Amino acid sequence: MDRIKITGGNELRGIIPISGAKNAALPLMIASLLTSDTLTLENVPHLADVEGLMRILGNHGVDIAVNGRRERQEDGYSRTIHFTCRTIADTTAPYELVSKMRASFWVIGPLLAREGRARVSLPGGCAIGTRPVDLFLEGLAALGANIEIDGGYVNATAPQGGLVGSHYSFPKVSVGATHVMMMAATLAKGTTVIDNAAREPEVVDLANCLNAMGARISGAGTRVITVEGVTSLSGARHRVLPDRIETGTYAMAVAMTGGDVTLQGTDAALLDNALDTLRQAGAEITETESGLRIVRNRNGIQPVDVVTEPFPGFPTDLQAQFMALMTRAGGVSHITETIFENRFMHVQELARLGARISLSGQMARVEGVPRLKGAPVMATDLRASVSLVIAGLAAEGETIVNRVYHLDRGFERLEEKLNRCGANVQRVSD
Ligand code: EPZ
Repeated sequence: MDRIKITGGNELRGIIPISGAKNAALPLMIASLLTSDTLTLENVPHLADVEGLMRILGNHGVDIAVNGRRERQEDGYSRTIHFTCRTIADTTAPYELVSKMRASFWVIGPLLAREGRARVSLPGGCAIGTRPVDLFLEGLAALGANIEIDGGYVNATAPQGGLVGSHYSFPKVSVGATHVMMMAATLAKGTTVIDNAAREPEVVDLANCLNAMGARISGAGTRVITVEGVTSLSGARHRVLPDRIETGTYAMAVAMTGGDVTLQGTDAALLDNALDTLRQAGAEITETESGLRIVRNRNGIQPVDVVTEPFPGFPTDLQAQFMALMTRAGGVSHITETIFENRFMHVQELARLGARISLSGQMARVEGVPRLKGAPVMATDLRASVSLVIAGLAAEGETIVNRVYHLDRGFERLEEKLNRCGANVQRVSD
């Protein structure tokens, strides 16, 4: 199994190209199930999760063509991929596939909308929390679906004549359930109003793509999304938006090591809250023509308290990385996780590098230390793993991050991007 070896202590200086967003690409790919025409997605990141979802979509009958050199971007990152689902070959998403990637549960929306039925395995728990699917099922039931759970599977069927638009208010904000409701409602009869919808940029990206396919969605990015159902959707060409979590991760890495890095092709508006927090922590951040410039020279790292919240609040997907940064701050910070109940798996691993962190319920108290020291570590999810990379970049000596497959799920060419800026990060295979 591959590991990442980091020799810490180098400042980061240079340019890092930001890839297309994993969490936008996944629902966009799933949207290809809604039409028999070709959906072409540009700027799709090359990640294990994307490859995994391609296999799942293939099982449902989606023909996938990854273009060769002609459509590759100049720097070789991210790709243009064509998805064509002439007919749905199978309305079952089996346990073996869904249990590997939670987002594959989201196929339930398009399958139900287009075929009138779906049999999708319950995804099960995961490292960061129990992550139930009650909101998805309630939302789809509001559109008239009949939902039964049997043998670990959700069996969903639309009424005769298809799903019917209605008004549904989510009791809790959910990104995935908002994606699924929006996709299902595009082909429902009449108008659907989704209240307390997630406002994440990835929801807006999906709505923009669906509208390009002929859907009639308004309000994405606000709390209330309105979908006027249409009878069919067509193909479209859509560019996946830049990855705000990758952007924030590298910004925190620079704040951690010091240096001067331009994050190319990204957009500050996607992560205002996290960038403000980083400014308070001592990073200078400026928007340039090509993206974002992050500088930290002689100033130290200041402690800042954060609470994770749905967008536009501080993202849970940057919580672990920010905690890594705070381990070197000149004082005490408090980090409160409100989205997932078990997203502190990195705490004990950061402690192995010399961090001083104590947990009390959903809040971590981080007491900055003057230095971290390299050690072997491992993490159980993607963002926790990359927080250990950030800590390793600033630690004295060698840090080995085990279970690299987590990083490969969500960070395109991580070692290459960091090494281009002066880091010393090597992938070691056994
Ligand atoms: C998306 O997950 C992201 N995944 C996550 O990123 C991200 O952490 C999360 O949104 C929050 O921003 C993708 O986009 C592929 P939720 P999602 O439904 O949609 C509870 C990463 O590292 N809930 O918004 O699954 C749930 O348990 C990943 O890239 C219910 O209670 O998250 C959680 O506490 C990890 N019932 C909260 O809502 C439900 O039916 C928010 O989860 C659904 C969710």
